[in-house]
Amino acid sequence: MTLDLADIQGLVAFGYSRLRFSSFEFLHIKNRHETKRWLKTLPIEDARSREEKAKADVPVSSTALNVAIGAPGLVKLGISRCELYANFPPEFCGTDDEGAPKNSMGEAIRANVLGDVGTNDPHHWEYGNPKQPTLDLVVLLYAKDETELENLRARWITPAIDSGAVSQIASEKSRIFEDEREHFGFRDGLSQPDIDGIGGATKPSAINPGEFLLGCPDEYGTYSYSPTVNGGHFDFGKFGSYLVIRKLRQDVAGFHHYFQKEAASHGGSVTAGWLAAKCVGRWPSGAPLVRYPQTDPGMEGDNNFEYVGDGKQPIDSDGLKCPIAAHIRRSNPRDSLDEGSVQSRVTVRRHRLLRRGRTFGERPVDPAIDDGKSRGLFFITLQASIRKQFEFVQQTWLNDGKFSRLYESPDPITAPKVSAEIPPSMTIPQDPVRLRLSGMPQFVTTLGGGYFFLPSLSAMQYLCELPDK
Ligand code: HEM
Repeated sequence: MTLDLADIQGLVAFGYSRLRFSSFEFLHIKNRHETKRWLKTLPIEDARSREEKAKADVPVSSTALNVAIGAPGLVKLGISRCELYANFPPEFCGTDDEGAPKNSMGEAIRANVLGDVGTNDPHHWEYGNPKQPTLDLVVLLYAKDETELENLRARWITPAIDSGAVSQIASEKSRIFEDEREHFGFRDGLSQPDIDGIGGATKPSAINPGEFLLGCPDEYGTYSYSPTVNGGHFDFGKFGSYLVIRKLRQDVAGFHHYFQKEAASHGGSVTAGWLAAKCVGRWPSGAPLVRYPQTDPGMEGDNNFEYVGDGKQPIDSDGLKCPIAAHIRRSNPRDSLDEGSVQSRVTVRRHRLLRRGRTFGERPVDPAIDDGKSRGLFFITLQASIRKQFEFVQQTWLNDGKFSRLYESPDPITAPKVSAEIPPSMTIPQDPVRLRLSGMPQFVTTLGGGYFFLPSLSAMQYLCELPDK
């Protein structure tokens, strides 16, 4: 199947890493007619490469703009409630007491699935909170510097607010730092799935596009489910993708203190940096522990590795190099699931995430001192099924303390602390005796977020042309 890249939004193909400055504009629709008029004018970037655009005489912009729509926004723009509930997945729709679509991620049922309990409870969120106005739209703006970003915002967002088409729920600045490290100090955004048909990916390891785009061949040998509208006459989902955004605050000082304290309690036999790397599964440079188990070689992150191998030459079945509980080994177990390496590779290909996250907040002057400022990661993923991909990975691989026969050992970096009685622990396999980190604090807190649909450009046009009710 040939993908029509001119019909697919750019975020599916690009992380815009050269456009380091970004802003996520969370909007609530006030006037449907005015919103449609405004949406029609937006210069939404498509997924064609610069070369393809040049060949097609399409101007290449130095900025980028993408748009995604929440379930309440789809209904406001004219998709009937009936078709929404019949044709879109329940985790995306969500309902309030009157049966209207709501901030679905903030629902109690999703909060339980995602571990959004305690300090992560959606009732404390800055937005996406069930008590607040619905997140109808998010416009993602990307630019190479702050001035260009401000201009982009003034050109495309301010007029929609001033005309009364939409109201602003939040305008969130985010960025990729020059060294591409997140706030705990590790290189991020290294491991991404190659997608067949996008960015010239032809490797045998490339994942079928239907894992990320609706209406396309997927890893089950079928086509990913795509919702139709207008009584089945319009394939609204085709070439669209579901977008998850979560604002995750990182306790940077808490992270450094904890590992310094643990290193000291082990009598100096290990360093804080070594312990933290064991929890992530990569060194700060991005080098994977499974390749470089002793020290950080200080080189760019290699991504062509497995944990178990073909059995002839065992790589790291016991987690002596990269612990089984480490963040990257459980968020993408590659060939190391209990079902055996061959089946593991098949299973894992059905639960991949296309990550588009960025940091928010400034770097602290001294990471070991709590300066009281909020900083963290806008965790952003694209997938064909929120339930099967993002929610599955978070619930079953990251938050479950019994992942891969572990015990009371959820993800050491991201998991919430669900019970004061049993604080999470982390086992670091060692020969002859394992090392156990106990009483791990919660390093990451959810501050907000939502589920959105990133439509194809033709679906966007269809929506804008629906008659007002
Ligand atoms: C503040 C929270 C988080 C931090 C600081 C963080 C940090 C990192 C780092 C440093 C890496 C290694 C670099 C790379 O491969 O790109 C990574 C990889 C990854 N993370 Fe996270 N992460 C966070 C939250 C999450 C969440 C919530 C999920 C999923 C629900 C997730 C899924 C992944 C995946 C799938 C990978 C790639 C693993 C691989 O393919 O080897 N992360 N993360």
